[in-house]
Amino acid sequence: MTDDDRILIRRAGPLRGEVTIPGAKNSVLKLMAATLLADGEFTLTNVPDIADVGIMAELLAAIGVESRFEGHGRLTMVNRGGIRPVAPYELVERIRASINVLGPLLGRFGKVSLSLPGGDDFGSRPIDMHLKGLEAMGATFELRHGVVEATADRLHGADITLEFPSVGATENILTAAVHAKGATVIDNAAREPEISDLCHFLVAMGAHIEGIGTSTLRIEGVEPGELHATQHAVVPDRIQAATYLAAVAVSGGEVVLRGARGDHMDMLLRRFHDMGLTVTAMGAGADASLAVWAQGRLRSIDVATLPYPGIATDYKPLIVTMLSVADGVGIVTENLYPGRFRYVEELQRLGADIRADGHHAVVRGVPQLSGAPVKAPDIRAGAALVVAGLAAEGETSVAGVHHIDRGYDDLVGRLAALGADIERVTPGRASA
Ligand code: EPU
Repeated sequence: MTDDDRILIRRAGPLRGEVTIPGAKNSVLKLMAATLLADGEFTLTNVPDIADVGIMAELLAAIGVESRFEGHGRLTMVNRGGIRPVAPYELVERIRASINVLGPLLGRFGKVSLSLPGGDDFGSRPIDMHLKGLEAMGATFELRHGVVEATADRLHGADITLEFPSVGATENILTAAVHAKGATVIDNAAREPEISDLCHFLVAMGAHIEGIGTSTLRIEGVEPGELHATQHAVVPDRIQAATYLAAVAVSGGEVVLRGARGDHMDMLLRRFHDMGLTVTAMGAGADASLAVWAQGRLRSIDVATLPYPGIATDYKPLIVTMLSVADGVGIVTENLYPGRFRYVEELQRLGADIRADGHHAVVRGVPQLSGAPVKAPDIRAGAALVVAGLAAEGETSVAGVHHIDRGYDDLVGRLAALGADIERVTPGRASA
């Protein structure tokens, strides 16, 4: 694999079969950071085989927690207690979730040096809410030469109302609060399933958290040293699941998504239903799955992204792709990020009729896209371009595959197993 890899897609017939949905990137990275909270050996299962897990493992190794990949989605992490609370720039700039070491390190050790985080390039993504929340708990911050120097004697509980239910701010305040003196209440907390997953992990470590899954979390701090290592299965990835739903939506067919949690995708499934997709949720918890059936042309809808339980911004490139070939006109409104429509130009290269301006895109469905070379600008948009390739006659070649590798566990192999005509090629090497 190289940075020049491409994914080649040609339109094929309907997709059929079963696909297993891996664990969620946006949970596992946070669980990994939370291993800083206690000494001992942690085991995570249902861990996706994605590049960001490797980067997070490198970052934690630099701080003092070792990771061992055991295969079959099993990751063992050992915290021997020799923690150095410094997150170096070379690693932090590669992944936004590196910011998640702030809460655990500050709460447990009272000191952190953290370079400002990088990650996807779609508009400015400040961390003011993280810092304000932690300041209310007694932390002080100084920004010097691009490094946030955080200190606190011992954090104390506080009542914190977030201006916006930020995922990262909720996580950092939560993982700091488990070691604070007294109770912390986070109001207007984010309530994504990945946040609940983190809460369950922390509770299994011995933390006291009430209100899991709601927008008010109450955390009663424990003494540093009272938390212990644990085992945990990562929640299935609702964004990867949505990607396979979108693939079936534009290709037609009948597919079962093993592990996909319909209860975590409720709003999206309702809107997909409005577009003409038949999705049936089966089983519950670890035995959950979704069956999807699609035939004929999709219908257009209007969609606005919102924090959970609304339609996630990470679904949006997939929805825009589906609308590109749907019957009618759809208006898509982005409420989370400024300027997250960069992939629109790439979809236009495939013949999509989209006008994006500020927070809105107007998508006029066309009967068929036509294959062309395109470039993935970020993880989710990259996956959406692959889905678009399934709907395009001729060949679509997607570059920037390293973005897709950050969050997708063998997207190409999984789609090929469902009957898609797709392959990954490394320039200069025979295709495989
Ligand atoms: N924001 C602030 N100040 C803050 C924090 C956030 O202004 O202190 C703003 C952000 O700039 C953004 C909005 O609030 O406009 C939402 O940010 P949030 O903190 O909720 O997002 P995040 O924690 O940075 C996570 C996911 C994203 C996903 C968002 C929204 C991870 C590692 N990232 O980011 O996922 O889009 O929540 O659901 O969990 C992806 O996986 O491809 C991805 C980008």
